[in-house]
Amino acid sequence: MKRVVVVNGPNLNLLGIREPHIYGTRSLKDLEEIVRARAKSLDLEVSFYQSNHEGEIIDFLQEHAPGSAGIVINPAALTHYSVALYDCLQALALPVVEVHISNIHAREEYRSKSVTARAARGVITGLGFAGYEMALEYLAAQQ
Ligand code: DQA
Repeated sequence: MKRVVVVNGPNLNLLGIREPHIYGTRSLKDLEEIVRARAKSLDLEVSFYQSNHEGEIIDFLQEHAPGSAGIVINPAALTHYSVALYDCLQALALPVVEVHISNIHAREEYRSKSVTARAARGVITGLGFAGYEMALEYLAAQQ
């Protein structure tokens, strides 16, 4: 069975509590359930991870992404400045889909710049939790 890695960055543990007008009222646990259900229907195994720490995310990816069919990542604030995460994604040389719950282009100017997106096949932004499901569909359809 194909395996994919789904990673969420800083403050996404606060989904449901954090700025619900932007990120909605559902929790990270709800997101994990949605991701696992969609993955199951696509015959994908999932390694699901969230951390508030850049280095821990990089350690997780280095350990768990090799051998997987690809990465779905919402780098959260790391999107906008983490060259270290960008380098990690490049080094892994796997299909990456970057996902944002909110539309990063419709918010503060500094959010519209993604340094990690250059390492991604594509970016889904602004479609809420559905973006993760679409990213899984994309990875499931790859050879
Ligand atoms: C986010 C957008 C980022 O700008 C922000 O720092 C986040 C979440 C999103 O999912 O919309 O933490 O990645």
